[in-house]
Amino acid sequence: MSDYPFFFTWTSQNAAKPLELTGGEGAWFTTSDGGRWLDLGALSYQVNAGHGRQRIVDAITRQANQLCLSAPNAVYPAKVELAERLLALAGPGFSKVFFTLGGAEANENAIKIARQVTGRLKMISRYRSYHGASMGALALTGDWRRPPMEPLIPGVVHVHDCECERCQYGNRAGNVCDRGMAGEIEKTLRLDGAGTTAAVFLEPVPGANGAFVPPPDYWPRVRAACDADGALLVADEVLCGFGRTGNAFGHQHWGVVPDMITVAKGLASGYATIGAVIVHERVAKHFDANVLACGLTYYAHPTACAAALETLKLYEDEGSFEHSAKLGPVLLRELDAVSKRLAVRAPVRGLGLLAAIAPEAPLSAWQTLGAELAKRKLSLHVEGKRGTAIFAPPLCITEEELVRGVRSFGDAAVAAFGASAVGVAS
Ligand SMILES: Cc1ncc(COP(=O)(O)O)c(C=O)c1O
Repeated sequence: MSDYPFFFTWTSQNAAKPLELTGGEGAWFTTSDGGRWLDLGALSYQVNAGHGRQRIVDAITRQANQLCLSAPNAVYPAKVELAERLLALAGPGFSKVFFTLGGAEANENAIKIARQVTGRLKMISRYRSYHGASMGALALTGDWRRPPMEPLIPGVVHVHDCECERCQYGNRAGNVCDRGMAGEIEKTLRLDGAGTTAAVFLEPVPGANGAFVPPPDYWPRVRAACDADGALLVADEVLCGFGRTGNAFGHQHWGVVPDMITVAKGLASGYATIGAVIVHERVAKHFDANVLACGLTYYAHPTACAAALETLKLYEDEGSFEHSAKLGPVLLRELDAVSKRLAVRAPVRGLGLLAAIAPEAPLSAWQTLGAELAKRKLSLHVEGKRGTAIFAPPLCITEEELVRGVRSFGDAAVAAFGASAVGVAS
């Protein structure tokens, strides 16, 4: 039971287990009881740059001293440079940025832009997805957070995901995959009324819903289906963006160019509240002569822009995206070793520094895991009801910290799920 005078999110208040944060450094954060935790979840998947990064704090301070307040359509150097950097990361053809305060608002505005540009209403997204808590973004969301709030905005159709271990099309290891999942979006675009869908919203690798990595031709086929139908393709990079999967944006693994990219989280690494929609020229040009019916009082707030700009410079200076790509196979190797130590089946999947292990065990065992992790001061995303533990550490984590952390997770997992008969000790 919490005595705090505010709500805790996504939980009954009686079940809230608050951590009293005091600070941190690199891949570690500290708590008021003197605890030092290894942050294998980047808090809420956002601390890509790591904790205690003084250069980002200094950039915010400098900006606050120089220009702390702004109007939505005012111009100042940090805003211009940040937009230029985002467009450069997105690649050739992207020409405009719309700034927001976070991820849900980025998707909300991408919905509005897609509807304005196409003159169509409908959207397609997937069941294993989270796109934000506001009414439009929640309508796109496929997971448990949507149904309690329905009806939401009309026109969203959900399709299945690339959950290859439980393939909806019956493909199993050893079978030839006929890529039914990619075909599902092609089919839905057609069957739900050809030429009526404004946009398809996809996370490159669904993050909070379990790090399902799609087969290599999934995104190219979805792109082709959107092109054939005239629907726009939106990559929700709020979680996958900025190095999480080993490059600037997750969709870039598959050589596909979306029409819009939504970002937040790693954009300023949690040091400020900022998100954005990065818009391709083929969409942006619509607004040269048409009113863009979108706006926010705190659009491109100066201190948030300064924080984001410095964060992007830090990624470049430290080679953060390359580091994530390099440590990805290490994370998978160590999780495979954990899987072998367990008494239960525990599939592993991931890309870059975003990975999941999914032991098939009852909720009570998952509750034990939570307690075992707390004993070891390991912080990561444990979704007992959905049977997944998700790893997404700050990108500055060292290989040694990562290996030590996952092995310690393995000890906690053995205590919770039991040891395999041929268990391998860490
Ligand atoms: C893929 C994705 N999109 C959107 C959001 C919503 O972002 P925010 O919480 O900043 O509104 C999240 C948050 O977890 C996310 O993971």
